Amino acid sequence: ARKIIIDTDPGQDDAVAILLALASPELEVLGLTAVAGNVPLALTEVNARKICELAGRPDLPVFAGCDAPLARKLVTAEHVHGKSGLDGIELPAPTMALRDRHGVEFIIDTLRAEPAGTVTLVPIGPLTNIAQAFRRAPDIVEKVQEIVLMGGAYFEVGNITPAAEFNIYVDPEAAAEVFASGVPIVVLPLDATHEAMTSAHWVEEMRALPNRCGPAVASWTDFFERFDKEKYGSKGAPLHDPCTVAWLLKPELFEGRQINVEIELKGEFTLGMTVADYWRVTGRPENALYIRHVDRDGLFRLLSERIARLP
Ligand code: BDR
Ligand code: CA
Repeated sequence: ARKIIIDTDPGQDDAVAILLALASPELEVLGLTAVAGNVPLALTEVNARKICELAGRPDLPVFAGCDAPLARKLVTAEHVHGKSGLDGIELPAPTMALRDRHGVEFIIDTLRAEPAGTVTLVPIGPLTNIAQAFRRAPDIVEKVQEIVLMGGAYFEVGNITPAAEFNIYVDPEAAAEVFASGVPIVVLPLDATHEAMTSAHWVEEMRALPNRCGPAVASWTDFFERFDKEKYGSKGAPLHDPCTVAWLLKPELFEGRQINVEIELKGEFTLGMTVADYWRVTGRPENALYIRHVDRDGLFRLLSERIARLP
């Protein structure tokens, strides 16, 4: 199985991504590292543990990482995810303990302990933990197999500013360092994830599953959907973060290009924009596989099949 570390700020869509990974024998989740993002760290780490327990995996190590971006004040997204970050269903307070190592230390130690090129990082929140790990331990950078991240927007407008997507906007300096690291990167931006819209039919299918994870996914999706409905009049909720895990499982569901992506750090209106050279007009070196489309039916078939396997 492919070894992954999921770096996360749950988040309803983070939760679905984590469930998808835990339901998939092709992947071995070595641990979850929480980061401040959708809500502060004190909530994201608790949410991560709640999700593990829901999935019947209290053994999975969960670590708290950075509680603030590298150089900026934290921006959160309670307006999307609710006060807890995981509104939609009331889950019991977790009984599994938070590990007492810092999330950044876990990332560093794991990459040093495992053979080079065998650990993939899956960041689905701001990139603070990943950038901090690379700063503190430059030796691990070349050992990372791949980074498969949710973040960015270029052909699609941003969701936190007109130009920027939330995960990149919250910690643009961290994103810039990660994109400049030389590690092979796969980017799942809003361009692709806004195609990953739930349908009413699929949500009802989740609600009807004879397990506890299916109905939880339905409740989270209902909550998450209300934002997109009110704001954009769209039907359904975009399952951003699950696209990363789905890409690891079935890359043939996605379409994209190897290109150069730079992070805007100075723009007055464009801070955190992922400037994607899709038509290769700059001559700057390729640093990412930038995904633009996902096969929606295939994605939701995969999700249905996997979520049904969980408790
Ligand atoms: C990203 O931001 C968060 O709100 C979601 O969990 C996702 O990771 C989408 O822009
Ligand atoms: Ca997220």
